[in-house]
This record gives sequence, structure tokens and C-alpha cells, in this order.
Amino acid sequence: MENNFSRRKFITSTATVLAGSMLMNEALGETTSLFKGPKKRYAMVGTGHRGTGMWGKDILAEYADYVEFVGLCDKNKGRVETAKKMMGVSCPSFTNFEEMMKAVKPDVLIVTTVDATHNEFIVKGMEMGADIISEKPMTTDETKCQQIIDAEKKTGKKVTVTFNYRYSPHRAKMYELLRSGAIGKITSVDFHWYLDVHHGADYFRRWHRLRENGGSLWVHKATHHFDLLNWWIDSDPTEVFAYGALEHYGKNNSFRGVSCRTCEYKDKCKFYWDMTKQKRLMELYADNQQYDGYLRDGCVWREDIDIFDKMAASIKYANGVQVSYSLTAYSPYEGYRIAFNGTEGRLEAWIQESNPPAGDVKKGYDELMLTKNFGKPELIKVPIPQGGHGGGDKLLKDKIFIPGTGDALRQSAGVRDGALSCLIGIAARNSCDSGKPVKIGDLTTIKPGVQKV
Ligand SMILES: NC(=O)c1ccc[n+]([C@@H]2O[C@H](COP(=O)([O-])OP(=O)(O)OC[C@H]3O[C@@H](n4cnc5c(N)ncnc54)[C@H](O)[C@@H]3O)[C@@H](O)[C@H]2O)c1
Repeated sequence: MENNFSRRKFITSTATVLAGSMLMNEALGETTSLFKGPKKRYAMVGTGHRGTGMWGKDILAEYADYVEFVGLCDKNKGRVETAKKMMGVSCPSFTNFEEMMKAVKPDVLIVTTVDATHNEFIVKGMEMGADIISEKPMTTDETKCQQIIDAEKKTGKKVTVTFNYRYSPHRAKMYELLRSGAIGKITSVDFHWYLDVHHGADYFRRWHRLRENGGSLWVHKATHHFDLLNWWIDSDPTEVFAYGALEHYGKNNSFRGVSCRTCEYKDKCKFYWDMTKQKRLMELYADNQQYDGYLRDGCVWREDIDIFDKMAASIKYANGVQVSYSLTAYSPYEGYRIAFNGTEGRLEAWIQESNPPAGDVKKGYDELMLTKNFGKPELIKVPIPQGGHGGGDKLLKDKIFIPGTGDALRQSAGVRDGALSCLIGIAARNSCDSGKPVKIGDLTTIKPGVQKV
């Protein structure tokens, strides 16, 4: 009782903490929120896997004191109804976006549609009075990017881009070490990301396989990595030169089907994936396939696949840092290797997220290695909390939904961050097409190295 009392007294005296605090009455096993403000009214467009999960059911389970869903919209009339059931909400559902915005007038619009359509909903959403939470990538080409920059300026509304990768504790630790000068001035970065034959292959099954939907993995996937680089390096990218090729998936096989469920090569294809075992995915996609023909388990060998599966780029930054980056989408394990080279040392990490070597024990921490010039390597262990993306998803959601949550490590991302990360991918894709380096400053009105949009 004494402990409970002191904790209560402490919390009520701290306004910032008050907004986001929960009191646990241990005797009753109940959790009581101290937040008494009005709930914000949220609408969502794009009620697929990410929308219904991370931004739907999970939000209602953890942030119900702050959030009320007032409308859901998806172009697939069956999926929006499935979403309503999955999320357990009773708000109205729509297949027409403007109708929803006019009818429910949300405070905030969550945009979780296919990447290439984000700009449409971000821009219209702001014009119709809402602040925006957009999934990454913010958008997929430079023209759409400019539309978002202009609309935010014109409407005075705010866009938050949900870069959950920034919130993983070991990445936050890297940020702290780099800012504290642990390796002196950063001069170059080696950054190599590996998607495995399971997760990597999945991009080639879904809408992501076409540039027109996801802007290629240069944008859809690498926007996460480029955002991390921009944040860690604490500067703006100025120029990109890149190569890319499609040499594993798509046309690179002797046989192919249309989707795994209907395939005649089930027995011999190493990439056969039995979606029927996944109840949630069957309900979201297979049961609603009749409305849009979308195949969640499309064949990875389809000949229309037009994205790259191996990519390499050189990126130059306004502060002189040079980056060597690569992305491979058919690796035997998933993870990444990174090294920051500095004037006084080197900070590196090898994070392997799947297929560990035989006998490897689950460690419960990520490891960084810091080596000062002329010094011995120092291993730094960063515990991995529970939850999606190494605990990062929860921290991101706390920041978004709990009023007053601080941002000491500058992890919250807006339009400028959203733009500069996807612009590196857009520049890389343009460079692959033209064979020439691309200047980031030529793509939109954002001038790298200058802090204003
Ligand atoms: N941050 C992360 O780690 C992460 C992880 C997964 C997905 N995402 C992002 O979330 C977004 C959604 O991805 P997903 O995996 O849920 O895909 P999904 O295919 O499951 O869902 C997309 C939904 O948008 C709907 N849609 C598409 N175009 C539309 C339009 N014009 N109007 C209305 N609805 C439309 C589709 O019908 C579908 O229901 C993407 O932008 C993706 O990049 C981010």
C-alpha cells in the first residue's frame, strides 16, 4: 500500500508522465489509466494485414484510452468488413475514401494502403482536415513526394511517418554512441541487408512484385534502411549511384504457376507456400479474393515481376559521409551487417534474425562492437525486449498515441524524414534505369543540408 501510495503521488505530480501512465492495483490485478483527456478520433484507409494488426487490433488492445476508431475504408468491400470483425469495432465502413472523410471527419487518418497510393490519401486527408499517420514508404516517386510536401505546407496539418526500425533498442544505442562521438567524426558506412528465402520471397508473391505498386524494393523495403542511415549519420543524402538486377525470382525459373494454392508444381517447387494453414491470411485475402482478384500467394516465378532482387548503391551525404549499401532478397538467413567507420574508431554489428547456426543459443540481446583506433574491441550487449521489431513497435506506438511522450533520440519522423528516405530509393531506382548518378536536390524542393523543406 505504501509503495502504491508513493508511486501515485509521484505520478500525479508529473504532468508529462501523468498523460501516459497506468496504475497497477496489484491486489485486484487491474490496470487503471490516469489519462482523462478526450480520445482522438481515428479513421483508417487500407484495412489489410498491417492496418488491421499493428494499427488496428493492437492499438485498441493497448491504447483504447486514447483512441477511438470512427471509420474504416478499403477498396475491397469484403476486406473492410473482415477488418471490422477482426478489430472488434462497430464504426461505419466505406469503400469510397472521400465519403468516409466527409461523413466521419476524423482528427487523424491512418494510411495503410498499397505504397503507391499513399500520396493520394495523405494529400486528400490533410485537405479534408486530418493529421496523418502514414506507413512507410511515405510514397514511391518524386512527383508524389512533392505533392505531399506541398500539401503539408498548404494545409498546416502534420504527417507522421511510422519508421518503427528507429525504435529498436540496439539501433537507438548505435545512435547514442555515434552522437556521443564514440568513433569521432563518421566518415563512411558499410551497410548490407539480407532478406531470406522465406520473407524475401514473400515480396515476390504479393503486390510488391510490381514497381507500380511499391516502387521496387529500393523504395518499399530499403526506405527503412535509408531512414536509419539518415538518422544515424545525422545529415542529408546528396547523391546516389546504383545497380540492380532481377536474377533469382520472376522469369528466372523453368516452370511457374499462378498461385501456390492452384499450382501443379507444389511438390517440386522449393518456394511452395501453403497459405491455407494461416487462418488470418485466409480470412483477410482468400475469402475476399472474389472482389479484387488479388492473390496473396502469387507465384514467385511470374514473368510480370519487374523489381530487382539484388541491389547495390553508393550514397554521398552533405557532411561528407560515404555509404556502401546492398540489399539481397534470396539469402539463406535474414539480417544485416553494418559498420560505421570514424576518425577515431569503428562501430559495427552483425544482426542475424533467422536461421541461426546449429547449436546457437537464443541470446536475448543484440551485440555491437566498438573498437577505438589502436584499442581493443569492446562488446556492448543490448537486451532485446518482447514485441514486434525488437520492442521497437511498442515504443513507436507509445510516442504516437500517448500524449506527452518524449523524443530524446529524435525517433519521431515527419514529412522531411519520410521524403529523404524514399528519395534515396527513388534516386537509386532512377540511377539503375539511366546508368547515371542522381542528385537528391534535383528530385523535389527539399535542398539537402538545409533544414527547411
Ligand atoms: N513498417 C513495417 O514494418 C511494415 C510492415 C508491413 C507493411 N507495411 C506497410 O503497410 C502498408 C500496407 O501493407 P500490408 O502488408 O498491410 O498490405 P495489404 O495488401 O495487406 O493491405 C493493403 C490494403 O490496402 C487496400 N488498398 C489498396 N489500394 C487502395 C485504394 N486505392 N483505396 C483503398 N484501399 C486500398 C487493399 O485492398 C488492402 O486491403 C504498406 O504501405 C506497407 O509498406 C509496413
